[in-house]
Amino acid sequence: MAIIGIESSAHTFGVGIIENGKILANVKSMYKIGNKGMIPIEVAEHHIQSCKDTINEALDVAGIKTQDINGIGYTMGPGLGPCLQVGLLSAKTLSYRLKVPIIPVNHGVAHVEITKHTKNLKDPIALYVSGGNSQILVLDKKNRKYRILGETFDMGIGNAIDNLARNLGLEHAWGSEVERLAKNGRYIEMPYTVKGMDFSFTGLLTNAIELLKKESKEDVCYSFQETAFAMLCEATERVLLLSKKEELCICGGVAQNSRLTQMLSSIAQEHNITFAKAENQFNADNGAMIALVAENSIKNGFSANFNECTTKQRYRIDEAIVYE
Ligand code: FE2
Repeated sequence: MAIIGIESSAHTFGVGIIENGKILANVKSMYKIGNKGMIPIEVAEHHIQSCKDTINEALDVAGIKTQDINGIGYTMGPGLGPCLQVGLLSAKTLSYRLKVPIIPVNHGVAHVEITKHTKNLKDPIALYVSGGNSQILVLDKKNRKYRILGETFDMGIGNAIDNLARNLGLEHAWGSEVERLAKNGRYIEMPYTVKGMDFSFTGLLTNAIELLKKESKEDVCYSFQETAFAMLCEATERVLLLSKKEELCICGGVAQNSRLTQMLSSIAQEHNITFAKAENQFNADNGAMIALVAENSIKNGFSANFNECTTKQRYRIDEAIVYE
């Protein structure tokens, strides 16, 4: 049973193909972000232009034809409205033409599930860190829903890093540029905000931007990363002690930051539990993770009504039913 997954929630139009848990293809076309950031309608236009070629490329890589497809997954949300609409329309067109089921997928659930799948995890705590999200999650297996045990009060860590990078006058890719500059910095004290298992980044960001007037880029980047990541790690460690889970993973776009991964990994080591991070192709937005969740949903007997398949810009992870 080959399942195709379409991801279009932000700058990436990704198409993945999976068959009985084996990833046959994971290809993408990315909108080039300029200094103005992402203008949703322009990103959606990119997705419209690239959807056909990206789907065909995924079929070529997988070595299958459209007739071999048994189901379509698409990102229902969260994400940018016009971008999500392109993914929905692509998925609906394929589903209608091939007469196969269509499955709506939560983007955050997909990031955690692909990490569990590729790293053989059973029941981890997941630190999900991306542009718009920063959440600490555990799966409530009985109710088949992720519980958010900790999260940001304001912005996601990825957006905070991108904002700092724009103030530094850096070109995209912002996250990796901040990480590169941070390697040669020294520590300056910055605001640290953790309340229980929740945290906040706006005060830290404002302070970091202000400090750029008198401190070096390297020192600000280093101190910003160390402070923000220590906040994430403190909250995650608290969840770890509370939940007594034996596995910890990091996922989402910011999981590609090696310093954050290193800090989280040392916490896992101290508590003698397993730590895992998926390959970076699965932490970046991708279609394979959408295909995986759709395949698991179909295997568990879930079906969706074609006419009721929509998009939801603010689709929280704890609203989605999870089929493992
Ligand atoms: Fe993502």
